Amino acid sequence: MIIHIPQVLNKDELSYVQSVFRTAPFVDGKVTAGEQSAQVKKNMQIDLQSPECKELQEIVLKALGRNPIFNSAVMPYRVVPPLFNRYDVGMEFPDHVDNALRPILEANMRIRTDVSSTLFLNDPEEYDGGELIMHDYSGSQSIKLPAGDIIVYPTYNLHSVSKITRGSRWASFFWTQSMIKEADKRRVLFDLDMTIIKLRTRMDDNDPQILELTNVYHNLMRLWCVL
Ligand code: NI
Repeated sequence: MIIHIPQVLNKDELSYVQSVFRTAPFVDGKVTAGEQSAQVKKNMQIDLQSPECKELQEIVLKALGRNPIFNSAVMPYRVVPPLFNRYDVGMEFPDHVDNALRPILEANMRIRTDVSSTLFLNDPEEYDGGELIMHDYSGSQSIKLPAGDIIVYPTYNLHSVSKITRGSRWASFFWTQSMIKEADKRRVLFDLDMTIIKLRTRMDDNDPQILELTNVYHNLMRLWCVL
């Protein structure tokens, strides 16, 4: 399930993040790549140790925390602190695999990478190329979103970021370990949750069948969650 969630950052947050991007210290993006993908990854990212990075991470994590669609679709258990990257002309990240496990150094732990998220931070009119391309058995999907929007997708697909031919692409990227390990199960829960929300907008919250469906939702969570 690939989900586009619009306006995860509001206008004020977005313009603030963009202003930090203009002055933040960038380093080679290879520092967070696995051994194989480091050979092909060409981008820059804000130094993870910098105060600017920590500040932006807080803004993004706060925005995710208040977003009901993100939380319903991803059911986050642990989130790797977001990275902030920039692709200038000639930069790209050809087809690669994201490692299944990822360290969170600050917390001295590893997480399983179930879900990937790319938050677009500048407008698509500002650059050419830079599409996020995902490969699946049904073919390839090419994604480029407005600033402030996020795309959420299962980490198991081969994917790439195409070469920039004009301008610069700014984004944030992070992995999440979900409370629900399998993507198909997350999909069922997401569909059910969205249906309950729609029913609640046109029926009494305490309608017995809404309560029953809500009970089904939570019982499926109990069956499937891996805490
Ligand atoms: Ni990747």
